[in-house]
Amino acid sequence: MRKYRKLKITDKKRWGNNYLSLFFEDKEITDKVFPGNFFMIKVGNFYKNILPRPFSIARVFPEKSVFEIFFQVVGDGTKILSEYNEGDEVEILGPVGNRFPVNNDKKNILVAGGRGISPFLYLSKILKSENIDFTLFYGGKSEKDLMFKDYLSEFDTIFITETGDFGQKGLITEYLPEGDFNIMTCGPDIMMKKVYEFYENSDSSVFVSLEERMGCGTGICYGCAKKIITPEGVKMVRICQEGPVFDGGKVVWDE
Ligand SMILES: Cc1cc2nc3c(=O)[nH]c(=O)nc-3n(C[C@H](O)[C@H](O)[C@H](O)COP(=O)(O)OP(=O)(O)OC[C@H]3O[C@@H](n4cnc5c(N)ncnc54)[C@H](O)[C@@H]3O)c2cc1C
Ligand code: FES
Repeated sequence: MRKYRKLKITDKKRWGNNYLSLFFEDKEITDKVFPGNFFMIKVGNFYKNILPRPFSIARVFPEKSVFEIFFQVVGDGTKILSEYNEGDEVEILGPVGNRFPVNNDKKNILVAGGRGISPFLYLSKILKSENIDFTLFYGGKSEKDLMFKDYLSEFDTIFITETGDFGQKGLITEYLPEGDFNIMTCGPDIMMKKVYEFYENSDSSVFVSLEERMGCGTGICYGCAKKIITPEGVKMVRICQEGPVFDGGKVVWDE
């Protein structure tokens, strides 16, 4: 779906001060979207915040053809988006981007930092419904940075906070199991890099969802390009076209 379409916000939920969810109804989208995919959303008008912002698919409720995006307010665009209400229309492009690769042979380990929980909300539901073995590690600074606790209690979830006020105390990488797994991770670059390094010398595969500022989300502007190791050497690769999910071993981490 390469064109922007106006979709009505059917519901809105605030999670504490800084996090929100917006819900939309669209069967075409809920039928095809998969974790890893994202949407470009126009948050402003032509004069201000002209660039659309990327947001991952968060949860999907297929029986109601409803999907959710979950976001943290970090700047102007997300602030504007946070002020939309039920009944308002926003312009959305997508789903775009690739998918997290699920593995049936190895145990799947999902590692989410902060708002990086988004793609793993629906992925957890899919894995459970298909009886695929997985554990989700979900870390944040403190309890107020961890959302969806009730929803996630249905799955094998390990919560970790730096303050220790909820779940295990410390950093997520202190709790990762050793062994050979299919790892999928989303969150701050530094966390994903450490997850990759933790498994670098094992037979695990590590897939990371890269974040980059995006201009178009459709491969035209090259605004999202990052250095990726390709068979032809290190190249600037468009995150929105070839990603956002990449093999961690192909990412040029040290910049
Ligand atoms: C594929 C993809 C999926 C995403 N999914 C989600 C999601 O599900 N939920 C969510 O909360 N956020 C998500 N993001 C990040 C989100 O797009 C940015 O937080 C948002 O665009 C910030 O817009 P803003 O105008 O509020 O902030 P700005 O005013 O543009 O920036 C505020 C701060 O955030 C930094 N920033 C802005 N955009 C990015 C970015 N893309 N990567 C790293 N730093 C950035 C800026 O450098 C600045 O420090 C995703 C990003 C990508 C690329
Ligand atoms: S955002 Fe324009 S090419 Fe990726």
